[in-house]
Amino acid sequence: MLPTLFLAVVALLPRAQASITVYTAPNQIIFTTIGVTPTASASTGSYTGVQAYNPTTLNPPPVPTGVPTSFNVDLEEGVPAGASIEQTGDFLGFSVEMSVSNQVLGKNSTQLQVPFLNLMANIVQRAGSVRIRVGGNSQESATLVEAADIPDGRILQKNLTGVTGTTQTPPLEYSNDLIYMMSNISNLVNVKWFLGIPWFVTDPFNLAIIGAADAILGDKIIGYQAANEPDLYFAHGHRPSTYGPFDYFGEFSDLITQLASSGLDPDGRAATLMLGPSIADSGWTPEDVWNTGYVDTYNANLAFLAVEKYPTDNCAAAFNTGATIIDPQTVFPDFLNHSAHTALLEPYLNSTSFAQTKGKKMLMFETNTASCGGFGGVSDVFGAALWGLDYGLQMAYSNFSGGLFHAGGQNVFYNPFTSPPTNESSFHQWSVGPLYYSVLVMAEAMGATNTSRVLDLQQNEFTPAYAIYENGQPARVALFNYITDPTGTSDVTANITLGSGTPTSVAVKYLSATSVSQKGYYTWANQTFGGFFESDGRPMGTEDVQTVQCDGTCQIKVPAPGFALVFLGGTNALTESKGAPSETYSTTKLTKSVNTATINPSVLATSNGHGGSADGLKVNNELGSTSHGSANAAAGLQPMMLLVTGSALVVGAMLVRRS
Ligand SMILES: *[C@@H]1O[C@H](CO)[C@@H](O)[C@H](O)[C@H]1NC(C)=O
Ligand SMILES: *[C@@H]1O[C@H](CO)[C@@H](O)[C@H](O)[C@H]1NC(C)=O
Ligand SMILES: *[C@@H]1O[C@H](CO)[C@@H](O)[C@H](O)[C@H]1NC(C)=O
Ligand SMILES: *[C@@H]1O[C@H](CO)[C@@H](O)[C@H](O)[C@H]1NC(C)=O
Ligand SMILES: *[C@@H]1O[C@H](CO)[C@@H](O)[C@H](O)[C@H]1NC(C)=O
Ligand SMILES: *[C@@H]1O[C@H](CO)[C@@H](O)[C@H](O)[C@H]1NC(C)=O
Ligand SMILES: *[C@@H]1O[C@H](CO)[C@@H](O)[C@H](O)[C@H]1NC(C)=O
Ligand SMILES: *[C@@H]1O[C@H](CO)[C@@H](O)[C@H](O)[C@H]1NC(C)=O
Ligand SMILES: *[C@@H]1O[C@H](CO)[C@@H](O)[C@H](O)[C@H]1NC(C)=O
Ligand SMILES: *[C@@H]1O[C@H](CO)[C@@H](O)[C@H](O)[C@H]1NC(C)=O
Repeated sequence: MLPTLFLAVVALLPRAQASITVYTAPNQIIFTTIGVTPTASASTGSYTGVQAYNPTTLNPPPVPTGVPTSFNVDLEEGVPAGASIEQTGDFLGFSVEMSVSNQVLGKNSTQLQVPFLNLMANIVQRAGSVRIRVGGNSQESATLVEAADIPDGRILQKNLTGVTGTTQTPPLEYSNDLIYMMSNISNLVNVKWFLGIPWFVTDPFNLAIIGAADAILGDKIIGYQAANEPDLYFAHGHRPSTYGPFDYFGEFSDLITQLASSGLDPDGRAATLMLGPSIADSGWTPEDVWNTGYVDTYNANLAFLAVEKYPTDNCAAAFNTGATIIDPQTVFPDFLNHSAHTALLEPYLNSTSFAQTKGKKMLMFETNTASCGGFGGVSDVFGAALWGLDYGLQMAYSNFSGGLFHAGGQNVFYNPFTSPPTNESSFHQWSVGPLYYSVLVMAEAMGATNTSRVLDLQQNEFTPAYAIYENGQPARVALFNYITDPTGTSDVTANITLGSGTPTSVAVKYLSATSVSQKGYYTWANQTFGGFFESDGRPMGTEDVQTVQCDGTCQIKVPAPGFALVFLGGTNALTESKGAPSETYSTTKLTKSVNTATINPSVLATSNGHGGSADGLKVNNELGSTSHGSANAAAGLQPMMLLVTGSALVVGAMLVRRS
C-alpha cells in the first residue's frame, strides 16, 4: 500500500527554523532558536519505526446490507425507565503507564509538557475536570527513592536488569518529584489522580507512594488502586496457583492494618480512598470477589469498585509469546459494531447493579482496543474513535461511573496521545490518537452538570444511538454510523421529535473522517489535532457547528462513517452549561514566521467548564511576549508557558517554574 498519509505528514514538517521560548522567572527570558532540518524517511512497505507512528492502514470492512437508512427518535418528557445513573463530564479519562509518565506529563516538576496541559485543558473546559491514573503493570515494582539517586533531574529510571513477565515491564525507581509534577499539573488544569500501590510484596507492603501522594497531592488524589489485575498474579508468577479471591481479601486487610500503623496516613484519609479489585476477567469473576464480603467488610475503605477489561489482546505479536498472531485486518470489523460493546459489558451489569445497592461507584479502570499495545490500523484510526465513544456511552448506560483509556510509550498503537521521541522533541510535536477524540467528545456529550443520564436507543448494529438526559430532560442525542461508504448510500438519518415540543432548530457537531481506516486528521466540528507530530494540544481549524432546522421533526444525517452530537437546546445549549465551545483554544494562524501562544496558569487553574473564549489560551500579542526575538514583554506577568511555532508547527516548550 502506498504511504499517502505518511507522505502528507512529512510534507507538513517545518522546513524553516523553529524556536522555543521559555520563561524562567518574570523578568528573565531565555530565548532559544533551534535550526532543524528534519529528514523524511521510511515508506509503508519498509516501515521499521516504532508502532506509535506506523503509517499502515487497512481496508475498511465491506458495506453491510439491510441497514435502515433512517430511524425515529421520539423523546418523551422526563427521563424514561432504563436510563443510567447520573454521570459526570469526566466520565472518560486516561490511564498513563507509570514508566512513561516522564514522557507524557513532563520531565519533572519544573518542566511540564505543554501539549499535555493543552490536551487536558480542552477536556476540563468541557467536563470541569479530567481523571488520570498513573500506574499499570509498572506500578507493581515501583520504588520511591531519593531524588538525588536519579541523575539529570529525572523523576524515574528503569532497572533493566530485572525485566520479567509477558509485558516485559522493567522495575521502576521514582522520586517524589513525580508526585510534585502531578501536583503542579493540577495547579494549572483540574486533573484528579489515581495511583497504585505495589502489590507483589505484601509483607510488608511498600506504602511509600501513599505517604508521598497524601502529603503532596491533597484532595487531587482521588483513589489508590489496591492491586492491579490480581487474577493474573498467578499466571505472571507472582503468587502460587492456589491464590484466589479470599487470599486477595486477606491481603487487603493486611494493607489497611499496615497503613494504619505506618504513620503515612496521619488523618486516615488515604485509607478511605482505596479502589479494587481491578480484576482482568482472567479466571475470577467480579462476583467471586463480591461474594467474599469484600464490599461490606471494606465499605469504609473503598472509594470505588473497579474492573479492567480489554476486548482482546495483541500479545502474541507484541511479545512473540508463541501464541497465534491475530491479523488486524481480520479483527477490524469486531471493533466497528455496537454489539461489540454490549457483549463486552453484559457480564458486568450484575456488578454495576450490585455496586448501586452498596452505594459504590464502579470504574473500568484500564481499557483500550487490545492489550499489549493494540493493533496497527485498528487502534490508531478513525474507527477506534467511534469505538471508544460508543464504548464510553455504553459504559455510562451500563452504570459504570467512568472508564480510563490506557496510554503507553512509543512502542504501542493505541495511545490517545504520544509525545515525540526525546531526541526529536525539538522539531516534532505530539501525535493525537483517535481515543483522545473519544474522550473529548464524551466530555461534551456528558457536559459539566453531573446530572447526565444515558439511554441506549437500541438502534441498528452499525448505526447505534443514545439519548442523554440532563437535569431530568432530554438534552442531547448521540448518533453513530460505523459504515464506510463514500457513495452516500449508507448515510443514515435520525428523525428526532420531543414530546415536550420539538424545537425549531438544533445544533449539531460532527466527528468526521472519510473512512474508518483513516489515520489522523479526524475532525470534531471541523477542528483537528492533525496527523503524526502535528499537535501542540490545541484544536486547529475553525469550529463549525451546524444548525439544523426542524419543522416538527429534526432530521439529522450521519455520514458513513461519522458521529453526530445533537444539542436539543440549540446553540444556546452549547454555550450555557455544556462546557465552553472550542474557540477558546483556536489556533494561532498568524502570518509571521514565528507564532506564540500562551496559557495563563491562573486562568487555567480556575477553568471549570464554564469558561468562555476570553479564557485560557490567547495569542501572544494579547498576553505578553511578541514574536521572534522579543525579550521584554513578560516582565511583571504571571509565569506562563510559551509555545512558539515555526511555519505550520508549534514547537515543544516546557513550563519552567518561576522561582
Ligand atoms: C424520517 O423522515 C423522512 C422524511 O420525512 C421519511 O422519509 C422517513 O421515512 C422517516 N423515517 C422513518 C423511520 O419513519
Ligand atoms: C528538571 O530538569 C531540569 C533539566 O534537566 C533541571 O534543570 C531541573 O533542576 C529539574 N527540576 C527538578 C525539580 O529536579
Ligand atoms: C535491579 O534489579 C535487580 C533484579 O531485580 C536487583 O537485584 C537490583 O538490586 C536492582 N538494582 C537497583 C539499583 O535497584
Ligand atoms: C512545583 O514543584 C516544585 C517542586 O519541584 C514545588 O516546589 C513548587 O511549589 C511546585 N509549584 C507549584 C505551582 O505547585
Ligand atoms: C449478582 O451479584 C451478587 C453479588 O455478588 C450475587 O450474589 C448474585 O448471585 C449475582 N447475580 C447473578 C445473576 O449473577
Ligand atoms: C461485532 O463485533 C463482535 C466482536 O466485537 C463480533 O463477534 C461480531 O461478529 C461483529 N458483528 C458483526 C455483524 O460484524
Ligand atoms: C442502570 O441503573 C438504573 C438505576 O438503577 C437502572 O434503572 C438501569 O436498568 C440500569 N441499567 C443497566 C443497563 O443495568
Ligand atoms: C531518535 O532515536 C530513534 C531511536 O534510537 C532513532 O530511530 C531516530 O532516528 C532518532 N532520531 C533522530 C532525529 O536522530
Ligand atoms: C461534579 O462532581 C464533582 C465530583 O465528582 C465535583 O467536584 C464538581 O464540583 C461537580 N460539579 C457540579 C457542577 O456540581
Ligand atoms: C473548517 O476548517 C478549515 C481549516 O481551518 C477552514 O478553512 C474551513 O473554513 C472550516 N469550515 C467551516 C465550514 O467553518
